[in-house]
Amino acid sequence: MTERIFIGVAWPYANGPLHLGHIAGAYLPADVFARYHRMRGNDALMVSGSDSHGAPITIGADQQGVAPRELVERNHASFLDSWERLGISFDLFTTTMTDNHREVTHSIWRTLKERGHIYESEMQVAYSPDFNRFLPDRYVRGVCPVCNFEDARGDQCDECGSILDPVDLGNPTHNRDGERYPIEIRDAEHQFLRLSAFREQLAEWVGRQTHWRPNVRNFTLGILREGLKDRAITRNLDWGVPVPEEGYGDRRIYVWFEAVIGYLSASVEWAARKGEPDAWRPFWEDPATRAYYFIGKDNIPFHTIIWPAMLTGQGAYILPYDAPANEFLNLEGRQFSTSRNWAVWLPDYLDRFPPDPLRYHLAANLPETGDADFTWSEYVRRNNDELVATFGNLVHRTLTQVARNFEGRVPDPGELGDADAALAAKAASALDAVAASIEAVRLREALNAAMGLAREANRYLDAQAPWRQVKSDKAAAGRSLHTAMRALMALRIALYPFLPFSAQRLHELLGKSGRVQDAGWRLEDLEPGAPLPEPAPLFTKLDESAAEEMRAKLRQGETE
Ligand code: MF3
Ligand code: ZN
Repeated sequence: MTERIFIGVAWPYANGPLHLGHIAGAYLPADVFARYHRMRGNDALMVSGSDSHGAPITIGADQQGVAPRELVERNHASFLDSWERLGISFDLFTTTMTDNHREVTHSIWRTLKERGHIYESEMQVAYSPDFNRFLPDRYVRGVCPVCNFEDARGDQCDECGSILDPVDLGNPTHNRDGERYPIEIRDAEHQFLRLSAFREQLAEWVGRQTHWRPNVRNFTLGILREGLKDRAITRNLDWGVPVPEEGYGDRRIYVWFEAVIGYLSASVEWAARKGEPDAWRPFWEDPATRAYYFIGKDNIPFHTIIWPAMLTGQGAYILPYDAPANEFLNLEGRQFSTSRNWAVWLPDYLDRFPPDPLRYHLAANLPETGDADFTWSEYVRRNNDELVATFGNLVHRTLTQVARNFEGRVPDPGELGDADAALAAKAASALDAVAASIEAVRLREALNAAMGLAREANRYLDAQAPWRQVKSDKAAAGRSLHTAMRALMALRIALYPFLPFSAQRLHELLGKSGRVQDAGWRLEDLEPGAPLPEPAPLFTKLDESAAEEMRAKLRQGETE
């Protein structure tokens, strides 16, 4: 049965390049999931885009002395280039600056308004007498009322993840260029989302989502237990989506309210570009569709409370099926830090190394159940021990034997013995195991199941030793190599979601034409006698000095 799967991926702020922590958090898991579902023949739609508004953009634009639009356009182009090079296969990666996004946001706004979920009220906002301006939430720092963290941001506490208002903070100040400036609290008219009204409905709904990751579900239930406050959804700003209300020319829609609507507006844009303007509807209107949101853990409440509340209030569209949020990836034992430049930036990585070894290392080490650590020596070790020595070597020794002793044609399997039949069965069952793990969004486990087949096939080859068999019993050698090739046929499928570039090359080395993703999630028979191309290695061994060099580069780049 064909299933319909919507895949939304957190919208990155277009204020600078992405680092490997972002990739492990959301983009790679989403891509693995999407590639699997497409290969399976399911109807998958994967969208996201550049989050173009909010304080991260205006702060960045100020610092670089450019207009916000220019900053977004520059980084958006760089994101698109990175997706291409890393193989992150969005159906659409757009921005929140489009006319379409504004129109879709306004239409959601109007429905919520008509239904009484948006109302006008006074809000206390932070004002800076020193700079004569209202301050965006993020510009205000103070003590978190929930966990007492000293340096919480006015929008969200980095320590405990609570969503905050600047007026909630103890000792709030405006920190700029290392100075702390006093703030004033002023009253201003704003529009509010009546979140409080959704608490019971959401609690009941989240209670039923027993398939969610425990950290996501417990965190969400904890917030709901504390109670929901209505939230202001406009701000005193001039950069953002205009407010569709009279007299709001000096205010804009709050970035989080409109960014989450991006999932819907991107789907609408995708359909329009495809020339089938209604194609987005089943992804949003059919209750049989499953909607997955791939996000980092700091984004959980926006996707499990605020966006579901907006959708519930809107009334016509389906709620998330799952939000498999990842924990954080650290770098050489410390948190990634953009401000201190303690990071491996994706464009830099891609200028230096091929995409699949990174995809492999991150996927094998995803922070799915707890924080994980990226180290260059583990990267080199996995590349050498697992990609080169396990998977690459299996491919290479199988195919060079076939080239040398069977004139580069698929050997005849003859009658399979027990060991051959066992490996052939393992090849088929590995595809099922990998599929089941991916569907449960346990991607590390899925990759391990796929590599388990490669390890098994290596043991089989060692035991059969076709390079010896060929001297006494050529048919036996043919049977062994044919069986090993069957494992390779399965591996090109099972590893495709993780290693799309290498899987395509393996597909070709196995004599197949066209695109590997069109082969479907199944094990095809090999045709004896079919010609094969000249074998070539899939991966390149790295010297340990590469890790040293990259570590040194990281330390040199670090700033205070
Ligand atoms: N830009 C936000 C961040 O980087 C994520 C936005 S996700 C969205 O944390 F759904 F709201 F778009
Ligand atoms: Zn806190």
